[in-house]
Amino acid sequence: MLDRRGFLGSFASVALLARAGRGHPAAPPAPGAEPPFWPPAVFQDDESYWRDLRRQFLIPADEAFFNTGTLGSMPRAVLQAVTDDLSQVAGTIAHWNYKPGTPDYIAGYNPETDLRTALATLIGASPDEVALTQNATLGMNYVANGLPLEPGHEIILTNLEHPGGRMGWELKSKRYGVYVKQVAVPVPPSDPQQLIDLYVNASTPQTRVWSIPHLTSGQAIRFPVERMCALARERGIFTVIDGAQCSGHFQLDMKRIGCDAYYSSPHKWLLAPAGCGFLYVTSDKLPGVWATLASATWDDYKAGAYRLMQVGTGSRSLLKGYAAAIEFHNRIGPARVEARIMALANRLRAGLQQIPQVTIHSPVHPDLVSGTTVWSLAGVPATDLMDGLWNRAKIRCRSMGDPLGVRQCCHVYTLMEDVDRTIATVRQMSR
Ligand SMILES: Cc1ncc(COP(=O)(O)O)c(C=O)c1O
Repeated sequence: MLDRRGFLGSFASVALLARAGRGHPAAPPAPGAEPPFWPPAVFQDDESYWRDLRRQFLIPADEAFFNTGTLGSMPRAVLQAVTDDLSQVAGTIAHWNYKPGTPDYIAGYNPETDLRTALATLIGASPDEVALTQNATLGMNYVANGLPLEPGHEIILTNLEHPGGRMGWELKSKRYGVYVKQVAVPVPPSDPQQLIDLYVNASTPQTRVWSIPHLTSGQAIRFPVERMCALARERGIFTVIDGAQCSGHFQLDMKRIGCDAYYSSPHKWLLAPAGCGFLYVTSDKLPGVWATLASATWDDYKAGAYRLMQVGTGSRSLLKGYAAAIEFHNRIGPARVEARIMALANRLRAGLQQIPQVTIHSPVHPDLVSGTTVWSLAGVPATDLMDGLWNRAKIRCRSMGDPLGVRQCCHVYTLMEDVDRTIATVRQMSR
């Protein structure tokens, strides 16, 4: 395991910490404070690595947490980054003299270039194209509100949107007379082409926006966003992707996806503290998006996506946690995280498929699957299934209501034995 010195050796971390500490006394460590925790430094391609990593989380060892789709569990390193900074802000605030080059004690009046650079590197974008938001909902509202659309213009989205991916468009429709056209997605779809055809066939010369969920919240359907964005581009249609469930889950490359805008909630799969989001808008489309909230820099078009971060005072400490979550993710390696998530979820799906009373409602087509599986057990209502898994085996899934059953998200804190325990418990429940 790396110690603090190891952490300080990383370039990104040095930049972040140097900025935070410049000219200011560090707060003394709290009595009995543990050292920072980071993923094991050496990767062994076996379960022992993941068992070591599991110890970086505060979830008790006998509890298996599978509801990352709502909120991830912060690793110790992230929690400590937040609490250390909260202590420092509270204890040294009298040293804040507002002189140029000294750090702000609040977020909200600073472009947060280091954090945006780390985030941009992670998602294959330029820092100028990335705005820090509180969550996905804000990102989607900034796009819906900021695009200059006229009565009669059409927006296409699905019937499976999370309210955070839909309501910004409903508001726009009611206020400005744009038409929100909803396509009905089969659950589960049989193949990616079915999803593509829904959008293509619904489009008319009046269509201005395709609003596409990258991974739907309730059914875990992964949309072929790369192919869809290429088709939209040919038609001059603006694409905005709801990636709330995707940062820290899939490897993301904005330029490869080819979308005009993308928003996410890294407090889910990237394991950042609650209240950490981002909005990406590609540089050539950024000038066409109006700011929704206005403070000092709302109209400075040279400021890139910082223009879309004009929210007033926020927590600097939360952003320290956000930066630590990116660092934690990078230390494991985005490719390794995704491969592990998929290995766990594929094992879960294969096990569930062996139980005749189980129906898997999320896709099983290899191009449409993710780390999330939505499944039900014949004769067992969804909330009873959720409670049964918890009461019998401390397995925390989330009920998606009937007939979908429960949603089960595998992540880096999942062990293979947690998956096997699920299968064994479902077998007991189905007898
Ligand atoms: C697909 C999707 N979009 C949007 C949201 C809203 O996310 P947030 O509440 O973090 O803004 C969620 C939350 O679960 C989601 O799953």
